[in-house]
Amino acid sequence: MSVAMKLSEPPAAASWKGSSLELRDLSLAYGPIDVLRGVSLRIAPGTTTCIIGPSGSGKSTLLRGINRLHEPKSGDVLLAGRSVLKDKPDALRLRIGMVFQHFNLFPDHSALENVALAPWKVKGLPKAQAMAIARQRLDEVGLGQRADHRPRDLSGGQQQRVAIARALAMDPEVMLFDEATSALDPELVKGVLTLMADLCRRGMTMVVVTHEMGFARKVADQVVFMDEGEIVEAGPPAQLFDAPQSPRLQRFLSEVL
Ligand SMILES: Nc1ncnc2c1ncn2[C@@H]1O[C@H](COP(=O)(O)OP(=O)(O)OP(=O)(O)O)[C@@H](O)[C@H]1O
Ligand SMILES: [Mg+2]
Repeated sequence: MSVAMKLSEPPAAASWKGSSLELRDLSLAYGPIDVLRGVSLRIAPGTTTCIIGPSGSGKSTLLRGINRLHEPKSGDVLLAGRSVLKDKPDALRLRIGMVFQHFNLFPDHSALENVALAPWKVKGLPKAQAMAIARQRLDEVGLGQRADHRPRDLSGGQQQRVAIARALAMDPEVMLFDEATSALDPELVKGVLTLMADLCRRGMTMVVVTHEMGFARKVADQVVFMDEGEIVEAGPPAQLFDAPQSPRLQRFLSEVL
């Protein structure tokens, strides 16, 4: 990625080994309704792809198809060059982290426990090792001092950073973000976006559904505009934002910018 956003609290310098991701003619339906229609996309390792588009265009569905929260109707998804359809969905979710608009932290567990639970219970690491990983991840998202706080004692932005630390604790190869800052108060958005930009700078492969056009413009290597379950236009941010080709993207940008 070309632009590194400035960090107010530089975390310990972990680096990630993001994998490539490729969607090949991916289609997905909810019952009789086709929601994704033949989506093809290549994502290079360690790059950020931002997905933009109107409500209902299929952005969340695309992410759900990538990690098989919903099974594709046809087509394929290749992670590090290999079809994910060959793996068990549970195994796949160890390799692909997902962060949602609502953080879904366990309210009765501390931040540290929230981050440690999956490496301990799902991955089967010894508890002490899972806790050590969790502590490191919390440090990296700038929350080392809040490890013992329950979610209700953290701000929305801090809770979302715990959720990101939780996904990172599994050492994913790809991170998917679905409107990760949409539920946050405006003053908390920047901290989470800065953290996301830093993950990308350190090599994570990221697919980010976002309404934050400033983030997409600054951080994305590639921006994808979806409408009605299709990719209408994809390319570098300067191309999409400054020289949109299709009338649909031109209309969308005139409404959101
Ligand atoms: N579980 C479901 N069952 C049936 N239809 C669904 C389901 N989830 C989504 N859809 C439909 O699929 C289409 C795409 O929805 P999706 O949630 O992917 O859109 P989106 O681009 O993420 O929108 P938003 O910006 O509002 O989050 C919509 O028409 C939606 O109504
Ligand atoms: Mg959505």
